[in-house]
Amino acid sequence: MGSSEDRVVAVIMVGGPTKGTRFRPLSFNIPKPLFPLAGQPMVYHPISACKRIPNLAQIYLIGFYEEREFALFVSSVSNELKVPVRYLREDKPHGSAGGLYNFRDLIMEDNPSQIVLLNCDVCCSFPLPDMLDAHRRYGGMGTVLVIKVFPESASQFGELVADPETNELLHYTEKPETFVSDLINCGVYIFTTEIFSVIQDVSTIRKDRATLRRISSFEALQSATKTLPMDFVRLDQDILSPLAGKKKLYTYETLDFWEQIKTPGMSLRCSALYLSQYRHTSPDLLATGDGTRSPTIIGDVYIHPSAKVHPTAKIGPNVSISANARIGAGARLITCIILDDVEVKEHALITHSIVGWKSSIGKWSRVQGIEDYFAKLGITILGESVIVEDEVVVSNCVVLPNKILNISVQAEIIL
Ligand code: GDD
Repeated sequence: MGSSEDRVVAVIMVGGPTKGTRFRPLSFNIPKPLFPLAGQPMVYHPISACKRIPNLAQIYLIGFYEEREFALFVSSVSNELKVPVRYLREDKPHGSAGGLYNFRDLIMEDNPSQIVLLNCDVCCSFPLPDMLDAHRRYGGMGTVLVIKVFPESASQFGELVADPETNELLHYTEKPETFVSDLINCGVYIFTTEIFSVIQDVSTIRKDRATLRRISSFEALQSATKTLPMDFVRLDQDILSPLAGKKKLYTYETLDFWEQIKTPGMSLRCSALYLSQYRHTSPDLLATGDGTRSPTIIGDVYIHPSAKVHPTAKIGPNVSISANARIGAGARLITCIILDDVEVKEHALITHSIVGWKSSIGKWSRVQGIEDYFAKLGITILGESVIVEDEVVVSNCVVLPNKILNISVQAEIIL
């Protein structure tokens, strides 16, 4: 436990519209960090985890989306959770460490001794108070949350080697082509304020190199301009890799759930993980199906209070139904996210799918993700205002906004 003066500021890196392109077509309508998982915007989950940090002074969201896109969310989450949350807009992408450095003066106004830094596109239980205790015990400049994954998937992440006794980070390599380790970087960090001078050093070295190249030859200048901008600093490649093995960085391993959220398919899985977490953290958010006019509920289900679900519908497991959705008689919903204002008509079946805002699903139709030839489970994503007419079957498709489907389709991207 830190002393009462040991103040903490949390920073969540939310990126911007040029990132998160794998999240299309859903990111056409809403910034990816605000896409709902288990009925709450993606970034709501790390914010509510930060609320458990002792002596938390402020939560900043740093990104290069327009301010107005976050204004409503920021004011409602601050009011609801009673934590000060502010959105800070970068004029351009500065990288995951450069973005933090860009707002150093503002962050230091709260006089923090520790900075909790989170990627917004990860889903986990965020064990921040325990990680903070470990970080203070280690006494290093930074602590990285790590997890063991299957060796075949490790190359999608930063792979690292840690000392089994001291937990010191000994070696770090970002998304390597050849296998290094099944221990990976979760994108959740705690740093002392020394992180700012380390980022500054990287930026200064880059400036010096660029100047050297400039005076050496015109050709070198051309290649220098192709390299990264001087104020663009990546946390992983530019900070973690060079500082590994220098007794500055430590690791804290989570044995709980952790997933990345890069694609709509991943968001369906993460929504299910957060729904199951509600059993311990917010059971009141889970539908029970207890009332006489309630639908049948199976497993973890979230239903927004303004949604109307017919009592003969059967919902779950892993279903999240957003505001003003209407679910008709006899409808069956399994593992899906139903967004605002969707209408699901009588006896429709939706499974392994995300149904975009204001879409309409016809009577006796099916919208589904099914196993393909290689026994890989698919997913169907409908963009905003898609109409699936009565008795139509849509399997493993991505459908862009405003389309009308009047014949059955399988494994297609409908532009
Ligand atoms: N504000 C801001 N500005 N945010 C940024 C910027 C930027 O210029 N660049 C990236 N981010 C945010 C993204 O929105 C995301 O939340 C986070 O920083 C990391 O994004 P990427 O740099 O695209 O990295 P990644 O997600 O492919 O991989 C990182 O995270 C993995 C865990 O999810 C790496 O650190 C991996 O090592 C790690 O395993």
